[in-house]
Amino acid sequence: MDMKTPLSLALVFVSVFAVYCFDHALSTTVTYDHRALVIDGKRRVLQSGSIHYPRSTPEVWPELIWKSKEGGLDVIETYVFWNYHEPVRGEYYFEGRFDLVKFVRTVQEAGLMVHLRIGPYACAEWNFGGFPLWLHFIPGIQFRTTNDLFKKEMLRFLAKIVGLMKEEKLFASQGGPIILAQVENEYELVEWAYGVAGELYVNWAAEAAISLNTTVPWVMCRQEDAPDPIINTCNGFYCDQFTPNSPSKPKMWTENYSGWFKSFGYPIPHRPVEDLAFAVARFFEMGGTFHNYYMYFGGTNFGRTAGGPLVATSYDYDAPIDEYGFIRQPKWGHLRDLHLAIKHCEEYLIRSDPTHQQLGHNLEAHIYYKSSNKCAAFLANYDSELDANVTFNGNLYFLPAWSVSILPDCKNVIFNTAKVVSQRILAHTTTANKLILSATSWSWYVEKPGVWGNNSFTESRLLEQINTTKDTSDYLWYTTSINIMPGQSKEVFLLIESLGHAALIFVNKKLVAFGYGNHDDASFSINEKISLVEGNNTLDIMSMMVGLQNFGPWFDVQGAGIFSVVLIDPWNNKYDVSAEEWTYQVGLEGEYLGLDKVIHANSSVWIKGSVPPINKTLIWYKVCFFPASVYNSFCSISLKQFWFCYKPFITIP
Ligand code: GAL
Repeated sequence: MDMKTPLSLALVFVSVFAVYCFDHALSTTVTYDHRALVIDGKRRVLQSGSIHYPRSTPEVWPELIWKSKEGGLDVIETYVFWNYHEPVRGEYYFEGRFDLVKFVRTVQEAGLMVHLRIGPYACAEWNFGGFPLWLHFIPGIQFRTTNDLFKKEMLRFLAKIVGLMKEEKLFASQGGPIILAQVENEYELVEWAYGVAGELYVNWAAEAAISLNTTVPWVMCRQEDAPDPIINTCNGFYCDQFTPNSPSKPKMWTENYSGWFKSFGYPIPHRPVEDLAFAVARFFEMGGTFHNYYMYFGGTNFGRTAGGPLVATSYDYDAPIDEYGFIRQPKWGHLRDLHLAIKHCEEYLIRSDPTHQQLGHNLEAHIYYKSSNKCAAFLANYDSELDANVTFNGNLYFLPAWSVSILPDCKNVIFNTAKVVSQRILAHTTTANKLILSATSWSWYVEKPGVWGNNSFTESRLLEQINTTKDTSDYLWYTTSINIMPGQSKEVFLLIESLGHAALIFVNKKLVAFGYGNHDDASFSINEKISLVEGNNTLDIMSMMVGLQNFGPWFDVQGAGIFSVVLIDPWNNKYDVSAEEWTYQVGLEGEYLGLDKVIHANSSVWIKGSVPPINKTLIWYKVCFFPASVYNSFCSISLKQFWFCYKPFITIP
């Protein structure tokens, strides 16, 4: 007998046993009851924050997540962005900023948990709400309703993501960090538009999610009729009054807006931390146990990822971590202190539902008991103007207007939401190095108005823009010619109507007008007096789209581009040229030449000179610089009177 056999058998046994114990030890169960998510048999009070992985780069993920952990978060929440993961049907992409597995692992390495909002509808001010445009071109498809073609594609993508997460052992039961998953997103807001088909779709989406057997609970946010066992969660600026649709489900808040997103032409949004903290404390005071900041870090809409219409490149969101990854004070610090205070109460919060005590007009207390003489309390003054003194448990407390005090022992106040004591200013804001770009460091490329390539085509009508460009570019040239006969008036009004989002108008190659819509209504019209010449005149319209719609019922069929062009002479005669012969060119010449690509930074088409052209339109600008930050490229588009697009390139030595 081979003497090695018993030893080998013993080793095999030991390693099988070790693997079993290891796997078993790491495996986590996640369920829920009416109070909270229950993780490994224990109810938990959880703070979560949204960080969308493609809105930063993998190099900075660890730092962002570490700052979130330091800020008192337990969970990181993200959507999954279908259109970038499956740009062509059946061809998947999970690299770079879209490396979902790496992102989830990075969160796990920091010791935090993940809420994966697979959707696949995201909204999120993300191009087309996260749907791939090829979906729109499947004949007969209707999005987000009981349409077999849509359901088939949606289920396929849900299964793809769940499958990938399982393969990589990322669900809690497999030892991974994912404790929660989301199907659909805020469908309740649009359900009315789809009628009975909408209700059926909600049920189907719930069943589809459950059938994927993730072993973690699923949520539907803002979905009053979310069927069991799916948890309906709250989204909004305040969620203290929210109640789930069944007594067996916990009170959860999946989107608490730390600020808001920015659209071109709108002010920079700001939500004071006192109000944000008040909303959070009120939620936990009134029975909530899971809360998520939308966004904790907003980041940047790189490339053409921004949704629309006219959502800005920055997705800073006034979040506790700013667009560049710096801690925003006093927001971050004040919320960290709040999270600590709530954590101090966790053992009380998970025991029972709160008991209510009215303390006066707009004044109340909620008390959580661990035993008859051990409790934690939240004292609230929800009057937006009047401060107050209240008596609670025989003691006197001062409550500033619109504030909550937290008393983990029912006696001592360890935190009040209106008293901001955290550091207000950080050194980086005062010591940041200025990057000075001299005029000579710029080079540029001038686009010529009108058709530039041999792939233009002609139609005797005005075409809808999205169906024409297929979102391969934001730009579509519409060009035609206008013939002025002898005796006809050369001074006319040009009336152009567009579904959105912006347009530059050139007559005989000269810029004559610029029009644009806004985020709430992308359509616009231009009425401009122009001078023509006898004979042939060229009319070139550059119609621009700034992000595909991401929200609303039937958002996927909302169009863009020019739909009417009329000339009006001084005698009020109208000449509709909409059905004349129009020549179309998709995209800009600069895009065709790859000017927006770093690899073409040294292309010979770039012009260099001492002074770059200013106050001119249709110019590409380029500059190279060495950044202090880790972000390696960004494109900023400013919508002013002229349309400039520049993309700074970086050459790392
Ligand atoms: C919510 C939506 C989010 C985001 C937010 C506004 O309604 O669920 O995805 O769009 O509004 O930033």
